[in-house]
Amino acid sequence: MQEELTEYKGKATMEKITSLAKRRGFVFQSSEIYGGQNGAWDYGPLGIELKNRIAAAWWKEMTQLNDDIVGLDAAILMHPRTWEASGHVENFTDPLVDCKKCKARFRADQIPPENLAAKKCPECDGELTDTRKFNLMFKTHIGPAEDTASIIYLRPETAQGIYVNYKNIIQSNRMKIPFGIAQIGKAFRNEIVTKNFIFRTCEFEQMEMQYFVKPGTDEDWFAKWRQRRWNYYQKLGVKMDHLRWHQHGPGELAHYAKDAYDIEYLFPMGWRELEGVHNRTDYDLSRHTQFSGKDLQYIDQEDSNERYIPYIIETSAGLTRNLLMILCDAYDEEQVASDKEGGEEDTRTVLRFHPSLAPITVAVLPLMKKDGLAELAQDIRKELKEDFSTDYDQSGAIGRRYRRQDEAGTPFCVTVDYESKDNGTVTLRFRDSMEQVRVNKAELAARLRKEIKEYKRV
Ligand code: GAP
Repeated sequence: MQEELTEYKGKATMEKITSLAKRRGFVFQSSEIYGGQNGAWDYGPLGIELKNRIAAAWWKEMTQLNDDIVGLDAAILMHPRTWEASGHVENFTDPLVDCKKCKARFRADQIPPENLAAKKCPECDGELTDTRKFNLMFKTHIGPAEDTASIIYLRPETAQGIYVNYKNIIQSNRMKIPFGIAQIGKAFRNEIVTKNFIFRTCEFEQMEMQYFVKPGTDEDWFAKWRQRRWNYYQKLGVKMDHLRWHQHGPGELAHYAKDAYDIEYLFPMGWRELEGVHNRTDYDLSRHTQFSGKDLQYIDQEDSNERYIPYIIETSAGLTRNLLMILCDAYDEEQVASDKEGGEEDTRTVLRFHPSLAPITVAVLPLMKKDGLAELAQDIRKELKEDFSTDYDQSGAIGRRYRRQDEAGTPFCVTVDYESKDNGTVTLRFRDSMEQVRVNKAELAARLRKEIKEYKRV
């Protein structure tokens, strides 16, 4: 176990991350031309590539590498009884207070206790209302009539789509306990969102896996899944001294949980939850049995047809929150020699993404546009395209083009020069070390594959 960091010492700040994300097309404010929509964000060309790769890494880890885990994509709109059964209608609330003067709204547990006790607004000293419970689920209506019979919710977690399909999956895919179901999808919560970019939003994505186990084996599986989820972040190349465990105390446990640990990441604004691992017991399936009237017991054919409601170990990570973590974790600035002649040192901003996550894997750059170099570079790009995500850039000095790729987190640049025309070799430049080597263009794809596989974070 590494020693825990007490304060953030990285180069990122939330301002720098937000500004780079916008400048380079990772993340834009939603509906910006109308002044923006609080709690919602749009993922631009680089952002969607990064998000898809984070999702793919998680999906591979869960479904491809585990024979006993299968996938699902359930609908966002579910029968409203689902949310009564799950306990969300009754329990999924935040304690809220409003300022009668400036109309600001706060979570009661997030303002100084002295303000709460004195009912004094932390922003304008105005009078605060009493604390009220506010349900975080978005409610809307299905069909043309806006009566109570037509109420429907946007799902606040993807998990319930898995529980209501658990019997379907056992039957269609002959799954035997222990087994898991993985799902990635949107979730919605009516959160009070004020700061920290995409950390907490009203519309977000989750990557959840529900693992069904025999009661009595749940604590062992809970420990195993905690370890596996820790190892996963290590494999992604995340700075491990920026991760720690936080066990939920009795007051923090969700209504469904017997035990819960968060994996926390040290963001520029401090330690915050990244993912939760929960022992949800038989709570969910028992409640769905009760509310649906359907028998959700598992018949254990390998153990004298014993019947039981399985216990569930859940691993629940935010995809969009993982993206913010990956951006912060990758962000670096370093002093380098200026690319201008006689110039002083420059600051290089670089996103040190793992190559398997980087939105662009390789950029192809002709040294000059003329003398057939651009055409040769385009040909090389065309060949690489089949296997890698590529970019092509022919404008500006080569040093500036490298910097642009560094800031986008592109791990490899291929430069095509006059020697390339003569002997078929190109320069391969590495983002992290800025080292350059000559490679025969026929060996480029194999070399890139090797570099990606053997990548080690500096
Ligand atoms: N099914 C269990 C569940 O939803 P949770 O702790 O409420 O548990 C799991 O959420 C993960 O989802 C969190 O660790 C976080 O990464 C992400 N998440 C939750 N609320 C979020 C929000 N408002 N915005 C972005 N991500 C959120």
